[in-house]
Formats: sequence, structure tokens, C-alpha cells
Amino acid sequence: MKIEFAEFELPRSGAVVVGAWEGGVLTGSATRLDQATGGAVARAVAAAPRFHGKKNELIAIIGPPELAVSRIVVAGLGQPDAVDARLLQDLGGNLTAHLNGAGESEASFAIDLGDAAPVKAGDAAAHLAFGAELRSYRFDKYRTTQKPEQRPSLASLTVASASPGEARESYRTLGATAAAVFLTRDLVSEPANTLYPETLAEQAGALAELGLAVEILDEDRLRELGMGAVLGVAQGSVRPPRVVVMEHRGGAPGSPPLGFIGKGVTFDTGGISIKPAAGMGDMKWDMAGAGVVIGLMRLFAARQAKINAVGIVALVENMPSGAAQRPGDIVRSMSGQTIEVLNTDAEGRLVLADALWYCQSRFKPKLMIDLATLTGAVIVALGSQHAGLFSNNDQLADRLLAAGNAVGERLWRLPLADSYDRAIDSDAADVKNISGDRGAGSIIGAQFLQRFVNKVPWAHLDIAGVAWSKKDAPTVPKGATAFGVRLLDRFVAEHYEKAK
Ligand code: BES
Ligand code: MN
Ligand code: ZN
Repeated sequence: MKIEFAEFELPRSGAVVVGAWEGGVLTGSATRLDQATGGAVARAVAAAPRFHGKKNELIAIIGPPELAVSRIVVAGLGQPDAVDARLLQDLGGNLTAHLNGAGESEASFAIDLGDAAPVKAGDAAAHLAFGAELRSYRFDKYRTTQKPEQRPSLASLTVASASPGEARESYRTLGATAAAVFLTRDLVSEPANTLYPETLAEQAGALAELGLAVEILDEDRLRELGMGAVLGVAQGSVRPPRVVVMEHRGGAPGSPPLGFIGKGVTFDTGGISIKPAAGMGDMKWDMAGAGVVIGLMRLFAARQAKINAVGIVALVENMPSGAAQRPGDIVRSMSGQTIEVLNTDAEGRLVLADALWYCQSRFKPKLMIDLATLTGAVIVALGSQHAGLFSNNDQLADRLLAAGNAVGERLWRLPLADSYDRAIDSDAADVKNISGDRGAGSIIGAQFLQRFVNKVPWAHLDIAGVAWSKKDAPTVPKGATAFGVRLLDRFVAEHYEKAK
């Protein structure tokens, strides 16, 4: 979608959106439009008994005779002091969905908040545009027979404000964020016949163009490094594994990086512990953790974040075959710890074990945060409203919780404890990859990961319930959500880039 920023003026074509406060009071630009239409806006508000100017309410005036626009939409803004960035993003997203539903191809938002709301005019316009852009995402590259009415119609959006220059400036980082979110959504949506470890690694490698230093570790290199846990999962597939290391150097030279680690299982059949057929297609997005890390690193590079960061993604395909790992196999991880693989479907923790160890031993990071679609159990516990958060560090956990609340990607902290850890002691090896009973499945997964983390502050985000959405939300159309990109970018900007 083409987005432009401009001053307020009466539009002469397309759809125009204005705002009304709770109680039906028109904003300044709505009043001007009302005058230009001989009072049509105020009449429509008065005639709509269910419109109170609250958020999520809107009324549409189709083809007003006095003005050459196709429609006027009056959007409820709620109470001025409750207006914030999130509300504006959601409004931009909801309006985009509405205008696409109405078949509009061109629209302008003329939503001025005046001095009433605690958001600057330029920022307000930028957040409206950001929400609109996020909602406009589609993954339709494989749809060859779509009719025009099935395609999104809205092609160009002008967002008016009192300070278009500031809006443009403010949108630079937001636009980069949207581009990163779109990259993640594209990667997560792509099916496993085209997206497998080598091709996903190539896509990460392409980020070198933005200034990231990218290394792709191939199978021989993984063997040299002793990553037996990664290799064990990968051995059943004809697709060889890859580990990709992406470095962004925007902070003080030599200062320890922030480490982001992603589970990149490009398809998870379960392996020999094979999954049931129903819903198995979902397992194309079992690389969502890696997709988020790749999008996040793209964003750090694009907005020249003033931090050092390293992103590491462990890429495998988990398949059953004559060469596949068997339940009961014992593998040697890079850490030296041996792992009894009692269930080949608990594969994410295996690949992360080596990736976490590698990150910590090579980079001595300031902290490590991993993202993984790790357990079905986290969906049972938290549904799609929260991702599971586990951490060995309260400050890190609190900061992540706050960042999640700020961007609307919510986390819920679950416990780690020695009493759970005992459940993964193995009789035959140092550790086993499942506990053997059905209790606390997500915690058990996190405890397993913690065995591969030394003293460094670490957090694990189990995103199995939030990486993919079955229904539209204001800024997230159904499908791949890219949950984590905005959260971690916010976390970094808030705590590691501000001059103290
Ligand atoms: N990728 C799955 C977890 C998952 C399930 C993600 C549903 C998204 C939606 C993971 O590899 C897995 O299979 N976990 C097992 C662990 C079990 C064998 C201990 C699970 O959750 O059943
Ligand atoms: Mn699995
Ligand atoms: Zn998996």
C-alpha cells in the first residue's frame, strides 16, 4: 500500500475518514468537512443511534452529494486522554479493513486530535499509517485465480496532519518495523516445499545487503562444532541442516551483544514419534521463532539500532525415514552433555540446546532470549492471548512483560524450579528430552533448555499459541503474526539504546 503524509485539505476523490470524540463531538477537520457538505456529517452522527464516538465505532456516509468523495467515514475516538499509539494503530488497522471491505481504492485519513490528546500530531499520523500498513498484509503469491473483489482494494492512503514533516520522520522507524514484520510473516507463511533449511538460510543471508554480517554454518561445520543435537534431528531429512549467525554491530565495539536465538524447524512431522495427520500442515510454521529473529535482525540493521546484537537460527526439517533418529537414541550435544531422545517430536529443544550453547560460548552475550514454537502445552495453558515466558532473571522477565504490554504482544510468566528439572534426569544419559508424563509440558521444555544455559541472563518465549492466528485482529490479519518482532524491538529500544 502506498502511504503519504500531507496537510489537512478537503479531498476531492476517494474515501475520507474523520474523527468524533465520545459524545459525538466532531474534531476540527470533521467540522470543516461537515461545513463543506452542508451539515451531512453532523446529521449522520445524529441519525445513528448506536454511534457514541467510542473507539471501534464508525458510521459511513456513502456518496455525499455536496462533495466529490466516494464516502465519508466518521470514526469514534473515545476520550481524548485515552488516545495512545496503540489505539491509533488499531484504528488505522480497523479502518483499512473497513475500506477494503467497501472496495475503496484510495483514502485519506483526516483525523486531527487537536491539543486534546497526549500524542503529538506527527506521531499520531505515523501510528495511524503504521496500523493501516500492518493490517494490509497479505500472503497471496500462490493464489492465481483470485477475483478482483477478493483482493484488497485499498492501494493508496494519505494521512493528513498538522505536521506532515514530523509524521514522515516518525514513520521512518515504524515503516522499517512494518517491513521487518512483513519479512517474518512471509517466511512463516511460506510452505515447507520451498522453505527448508538451505533456502531459509539463503533468505537470512540476503540481509547482508542491509549491513548485517551473516555466516551460514553447513553440515560439515556443524559436525566440526559437535552440534550432535541439531544433527540428530536433521538426519531423517534429505534437507541438510543449517545454523545461521547474523551480527548487527551498532554499539560500542567490543561490548557484549544481545543474543536472540530462534527455533527453525522448517517442517515438524514429529519424526519417528510421528504426529497425527489432522492439522499437521500447521507445522510449516514451526520455524516461526527463527522467522522472528530474522525479521528482528533486519529491523536492527534497517533502523541502525545503537546496539550490538547477534541472531542465531537453527534450521532443520524433522522427518521420519530410514535414516531418522529413533526414540531411545542418545546424542552428544555441543555442550558435551548427552541427551536421551525418548520422543523425536520434542525436537525444538534439541536444536535450541546447541544454538544456545553456541551463542553463549562464542559470543559471551549480555543476555540471551530464545523464541520457539516449543510446546502444544503452552496453547492449553495460555491459548492465543499470551505467549509463555520463562526466565532465570527477574529484571529481564519484568522488562519483557512490560514491552509486551506496550506493543500488545502479551507474555505470561511461568515458573522454573529444580523440582521440575528432576523430571528430565535420564537413566541412560545426562538428560532426556521428555519427562514421561503429561504434566507441565511447557515448563519441562523450558527446564530442558535451561540445562544449556550457564549464568547468563536468559529468557525463553514459547510462542506456539501466538505465532499463527486463525482470526483477524486490528493490526494482524489472520495467518502469520510475527509475534515477537515488535516486542523485542521495543525491549531493546527501551533498555539498551537510551543514553543513561
Ligand atoms: N512444534 C511442536 C509444538 C507445537 C504444537 C507448535 C502445536 C505449534 C502448535 C513441538 O515440536 C512438539 O511437537 N512438541 C511436543 C512435545 C512433546 C513431545 C513433549 C508437543 O507439544 O506435543
Ligand atoms: Mn515436535
Ligand atoms: Zn516442533
